[in-house]
Amino acid sequence: MNHDFDIHLLKSAIYDSASSIKELREGVQVFSKQHEVDLVTEADLKSEEILINAITKHYPNDGIISEESETINPDSNRTWIIDPLDGTVNYANNIPQVAITLMLLENNQPTQAYVLDIYKDVLYEGYKGQGAYKNGEELKILKSTTMQKAIVATGFPYDRVHNSSHYMKTFEAVLQSCGGVRRFGTAALDVCWIADNKFDAYFEFFIKPWDTLGASLILEEAGGKVIDQNGGFPSLDSNLIIASNNLIHQEFKEIVLSNIDESLDNRL
Ligand code: IPD
Ligand code: CA
Repeated sequence: MNHDFDIHLLKSAIYDSASSIKELREGVQVFSKQHEVDLVTEADLKSEEILINAITKHYPNDGIISEESETINPDSNRTWIIDPLDGTVNYANNIPQVAITLMLLENNQPTQAYVLDIYKDVLYEGYKGQGAYKNGEELKILKSTTMQKAIVATGFPYDRVHNSSHYMKTFEAVLQSCGGVRRFGTAALDVCWIADNKFDAYFEFFIKPWDTLGASLILEEAGGKVIDQNGGFPSLDSNLIIASNNLIHQEFKEIVLSNIDESLDNRL
């Protein structure tokens, strides 16, 4: 990759965040947010502080949307989106499937993204129109698959505790149609792992933009396909993400979209 992108100035900060997340793990303090099962730890907050400080140092006029903070410079046409720790429930339970996402939206279009798998030390990168990379090497989907053999990743929103039945119709339809389902608990890696020839597809309701928008750019640049409930590339307002290897996109999309529980209609 011979280009200079703005995000490259923030690369050391994302690695500093990863180091602090690892250092804080032993005995980490865990708190609940609105839902008892929706967690935040002191490591989420420390990682966020490192990333926000780096962005405001290098790009003081840019906007920032980060999971655990108020939006900064909301009127800017350049906005950094941060998930300082994706997979908080994994992290709180010492399960090493944890990522950091940092990405840039320019005029509402994702243009540059990093997803760092912190325990495997793998950095995924995506640049609009200029490819996807894994630890600096070009990343392309090479996996040949069919819907019957596809490995599908998913996750459930935190209101599953009270509304689990709302999500079962789609889940059951996918279970009946594919080779296997995985729930690994880190949405950014679920999507990057389609680009990385591991998973073949992913869907999730009510995921937040910091969870999957950066990974969606990486996946599309690697040759995959990502849509939201309206059929276009996801935006800040998307309520359903459907991502896949291009080969099964049409079939997978139809399985998900034609099996949505009607209780979700007015929320999509
Ligand atoms: C969560 C993870 C999980 C997904 C949840 C997300 P967080 O993000 O990505 O895989 O199922 O919907 O909220 O809270 O760990 O950043
Ligand atoms: Ca998070």
